[in-house]
Amino acid sequence: MQIINNVNELREFIKVWRVSGETIAFVPTMGNLHAGHLQLVTQAKAVADRVVVSIFVNPTQFGVGEDFESYPRTEKEDQEKLVSADVDVLFLPSVDDIYTSDARTTVTVTDVSDWYCGAYRPGHFAGVATVVCKLFNIVQPNIALFGLKDFQQLTIIRIMVRDLNIPVEIMGVDTVREANGLAMSSRNTYLTESEKQVASELYRVLCVIRDAILSGVSSYAELEEQALLSLQQVGFKPDYLSVCRSSDLKKAALEDKDLVLLVAVRLGKTRLIDNIYFSK
Ligand code: PAF
Repeated sequence: MQIINNVNELREFIKVWRVSGETIAFVPTMGNLHAGHLQLVTQAKAVADRVVVSIFVNPTQFGVGEDFESYPRTEKEDQEKLVSADVDVLFLPSVDDIYTSDARTTVTVTDVSDWYCGAYRPGHFAGVATVVCKLFNIVQPNIALFGLKDFQQLTIIRIMVRDLNIPVEIMGVDTVREANGLAMSSRNTYLTESEKQVASELYRVLCVIRDAILSGVSSYAELEEQALLSLQQVGFKPDYLSVCRSSDLKKAALEDKDLVLLVAVRLGKTRLIDNIYFSK
């Protein structure tokens, strides 16, 4: 695996593949890689000739008081995992490689960036959209892969690519879960052992809501209210829980068929998000 820190060096390296007609899959990450990331890499290898992974803890998607400084950085372990996964290139830029000090351009996907997680993390999705747009311009992949766990992020990236005519196919990859149902996330390392037990309740509650919808419940608002109570009872502080249309993340009406249940909670010092999408 080639490790490249510099934007121009990466472009030169990749050019050779492009000229010889090889396809490129790209997996952007912030490191602290777990089985969910490795699943993205496995899928990437299945759909393209070459795989580029980036590790960049992007400062612009962290708000004031969030965990940018303490975000788990596990470069050596990450590199070993990517070598074992047979990745072609690891792009490891510094903040200065990605952002010039007088940068003035940002990418904002309006409306949907302000809902759900966006309401609790102002500016977060502009930071994500901007860095992903920049990484797409640097790598110019044929296909880019993102976890479905960050369903709102994936929706925003799809809209950005469509609106800005970025020539890349976006693929969503299923969430990888622990045996107890907890969705894998780099932030799970913040959880204590007892919090990990409680955290598994999040997926269970989502499954209960999905099953209630599939068996024909008549009010989504009531269902959301009951689920929020159940979450509070086991110790979560919910930010939101919402039954949405999976196509545009607007609140679902009873007649909508393709749904996603979006949830974010706080447990101790950790913020957890999860979702389930399904069709009626
Ligand atoms: O999902 C993530 O890890 C990040 O938000 C991403 C897409 C790598 C952008 O920094």
